[in-house]
Amino acid sequence: MCKAQHYHKSVSSSFVIGNRLKKISSEFKEILDISSELAALLDSKVYLVGGVVRDLILEKDVFDLDIVVEGDAILVAKEVAQRIGGEFNKHHNFGTATVAFKDYKVDFATARTEKYLSLGSLPKVRPDSLIQDLSRRDFTINAMAISLNKPDYGKLIDSYNGLADLRKRLIRTLHPRSFLEDPTRILRAIRFEQRFRFIIEGDTFKLMKEAINSKALKLVNPHRLRDEIVLILKEPDPCRYIKRIKELEGFLFLDDKIKLDKRSFQFFLRLQRAVSHYQKKFKKHRTLQVWLMYLAGILIKLDPERMEKVFHDFGFRKGERIIIRSIKVGVNKIKRADKNIKAYLLHRLMSPYSFESILFFYAYYPRRSLRKNIENFLDKLIKIRLKTRGRDLKALNLRPFTLYSKALKKLLYVKIEKGLKTKKEELMELKYIFKNLVKSRR
Ligand code: CTP
Repeated sequence: MCKAQHYHKSVSSSFVIGNRLKKISSEFKEILDISSELAALLDSKVYLVGGVVRDLILEKDVFDLDIVVEGDAILVAKEVAQRIGGEFNKHHNFGTATVAFKDYKVDFATARTEKYLSLGSLPKVRPDSLIQDLSRRDFTINAMAISLNKPDYGKLIDSYNGLADLRKRLIRTLHPRSFLEDPTRILRAIRFEQRFRFIIEGDTFKLMKEAINSKALKLVNPHRLRDEIVLILKEPDPCRYIKRIKELEGFLFLDDKIKLDKRSFQFFLRLQRAVSHYQKKFKKHRTLQVWLMYLAGILIKLDPERMEKVFHDFGFRKGERIIIRSIKVGVNKIKRADKNIKAYLLHRLMSPYSFESILFFYAYYPRRSLRKNIENFLDKLIKIRLKTRGRDLKALNLRPFTLYSKALKKLLYVKIEKGLKTKKEELMELKYIFKNLVKSRR
């Protein structure tokens, strides 16, 4: 494995990165130009670095920018934010800040080196040159920079042969301790391998396997692992990624009892199909947190206590926990939605669940009758709304108030069953429902 060499390698003449920079949106271009101007004034240097350089070369769309400053990144970021009217945010991390502008985000970081005193712990950080900054990065394809400085604006700085690896479609670490120093790179390697359909280079693969065998992921702060898992599950078609993780690492780092078998992967495939069916057919419903459904698929067989421990240790958010818990409980309850269930009962059964849960059930049970019922719920039942409100009950002088919500619920079910159309029809039914409710209380 080669040791990082510190030299500025000039770009091959056929490769004109400047042209790639032209593909950046005009807002981004403005930020790059302002950064460049400010850096010159402050006697600093600025560079575009990391994944954005990789993506520009691959001609992918670029949404966020990463800028490294040889100098004071906070100062540059603050000035940029002021000039473009963007929002400035300084981070706790050493010398880093973000400028948010419209839908864009630009991260500024002071060029630095990191020294790992012990494996898995946070590194000691100090300011350094761009080349040193690049040398601490994960893979050669992510360790390139583009100069934004006047004399060589647009020049590619490729000290670790990232461009050659990009062309060979290889994922290669920069040094042998890379996976041990930052084991999240095991998951990152799998993410880039699957996203770009690249190959993990031979020596890198061996080092990765060594890190996996030494259970390196167990040493990582679980919140960092969660972030990586979420990024993976947010990729299009995460099924391939999950399969690869299972093949290489397994999910024991989440919980020792997670076992994914052939049936789990059949489910993930059905889930993928169900999501694309939903996105085509139910365009008007809200966008789904698809990644959460895959996570639920990974965790579904855990008993509730173990599941809660994963939520707690990995710091999943409250709303995320609620959805996954409801999926776990709901997969059994929802079996009742099979065959000729009455429409109002179907509504009562389904309406407490999120779209994520409902689609999960749809994928979980491939039975025709159950799927037809779920589609009926999403297509028709969910849209049925009462014209009658609480204030209508008040206007009718109906008492006690405590029965209002129960009465409206019953009215909705009657509306579903009888197909009531007008408010007048609803109010007639309502009076009858209310009378019965009052009677049954006595
Ligand atoms: N990086 C690293 N090691 C990590 C995480 C990040 O070396 N564990 C470096 C890489 O140079 C990476 C850059 O920081 O390109 C930015 O990180 P991030 O935004 O997480 O990744 P991207 O490469 O931009 O990937 P994506 O396209 O998924 O955003």
